[in-house]
Amino acid sequence: MSPNMINAPVRAMLVLGTRPEAIKLAPVARAMAASPLFEPLVVTTGQHREMLHQMLDLLQVPDRTELDVMRDRQELSTLTARLVDGLGEVVRDLRPDVVLVQGDTTTALTGALAAFYEHVPVAHVEAGLRTGVLDNPFPEELNRRLIGRVARWHFAPTPRAAQHLAAEGVPASEVLTTGNTVIDNLLWVLEHGTGQDQFTTTGLRRILLTLHRRENQGDTMRGMGRAIRRLADRGDVEILLPLHKSPAVRDALLPELTGHPRVRVVEPLGYLDFSATLAACDLVLTDSGGVQEEAPTLGKPALVLRTTTERPEAVDAGAARLVGTVPDAILAATERLLDDPAEYARMAEAGNPFGDGHATERIIAQLAEDFGADADVPSTEAAVPSTDQVIARLPEGPGSYSTA
Ligand code: UD1
Ligand code: UDP
Repeated sequence: MSPNMINAPVRAMLVLGTRPEAIKLAPVARAMAASPLFEPLVVTTGQHREMLHQMLDLLQVPDRTELDVMRDRQELSTLTARLVDGLGEVVRDLRPDVVLVQGDTTTALTGALAAFYEHVPVAHVEAGLRTGVLDNPFPEELNRRLIGRVARWHFAPTPRAAQHLAAEGVPASEVLTTGNTVIDNLLWVLEHGTGQDQFTTTGLRRILLTLHRRENQGDTMRGMGRAIRRLADRGDVEILLPLHKSPAVRDALLPELTGHPRVRVVEPLGYLDFSATLAACDLVLTDSGGVQEEAPTLGKPALVLRTTTERPEAVDAGAARLVGTVPDAILAATERLLDDPAEYARMAEAGNPFGDGHATERIIAQLAEDFGADADVPSTEAAVPSTDQVIARLPEGPGSYSTA
């Protein structure tokens, strides 16, 4: 499938349904809205509800098409069916020139399918991530492989992601290494927004924790919760957990973590507060994809509480460690980082391998060129500080973070 050459603006449908998709497509929506070459058509599926809504201001696009598919404890099969059905209708209605999907969620997979069924070409943002294990993460590894079969443009965040696509036979002409748009957004937010970090104590080591992956829910996640509680028993840490809305995550973690004086469980944070909290923490324990990318950007060591990662670049750079999900291993790795200043410094100074904050420009310049629109896409360079500048401005202690 090759795109039709058209006169600008290119009508680009951006499909997003979960928190990370909103965060990672926000810079694309903002750049398209500011460009005469594009008309962004934002479609929110509502796969997430509160956690999506609290991110939508980042897009700065007021008019959206909204579906409302979320159900309590939704099953993947019914969610998928509702999304293909709803998104098919939206594509027929909007008749976009291109559909952009991001990452590996059910929204992304069904957005790609719905576009394909209507003969609309698909652009995949954050293409080529792989663990090599089909059911880990579940179901995201399958989703991204399937989107890779459908997409016409593969915007790979790193050279390694581009290599995965080449190894699967995707023509080089369809792959562009761009960096990850999460970095564009983080740097933009730290430059333009103000947030309040959510730690409440001074003098303790501050640990930011996020957990949600489906493959760990149940006993594994309960064990992770117990490990965190033992960690908090050390007495010299404050652990902050902005808790994912998923009832399965809450069922696993709340019984283990409620009531400990040094574990603070809060509702999911808006992006401004979350990024301020990340900037103010000492280290991160996470199973999140996005947080694995953001932590090294801010010089925060990340311990990845999973058995696989599709983001080995941070591990290779020394900024992250893949710790697994076994309680003793989680405890040992965290204590080592807390007690060994040299190890801590090595990780904190390893740097960010996920991009320079200009992924969005590369993405929309490529689309503009391929649609025959004027390829002179305005640079956002002046608006985005470098990672070094951002790290240099991080606060020394708790408090609000603002560069304004
Ligand atoms: C989804 C993505 C995952 C991504 C994560 C980001 C899939 C298959 N998984 O996982 O790749 O890392 O989002 O957080 O697409 N819920 C609410 N309110 C919300 C959001 C969720 O109540 O705002 C509850 C719903 O009951 C829902 C459950 O959380 O049933 C799980 O949400 P779902 O989108 O199915 O999966 P996630 O685990 O969030
Ligand atoms: N995040 C947020 N508030 C929170 C927790 C996370 O804004 O309370 C952001 C975080 O900065 C990152 C993204 O959400 O950009 C990650 O989302 P999540 O972990 O849900 O999904 P994943 O990245 O694993 O797909």
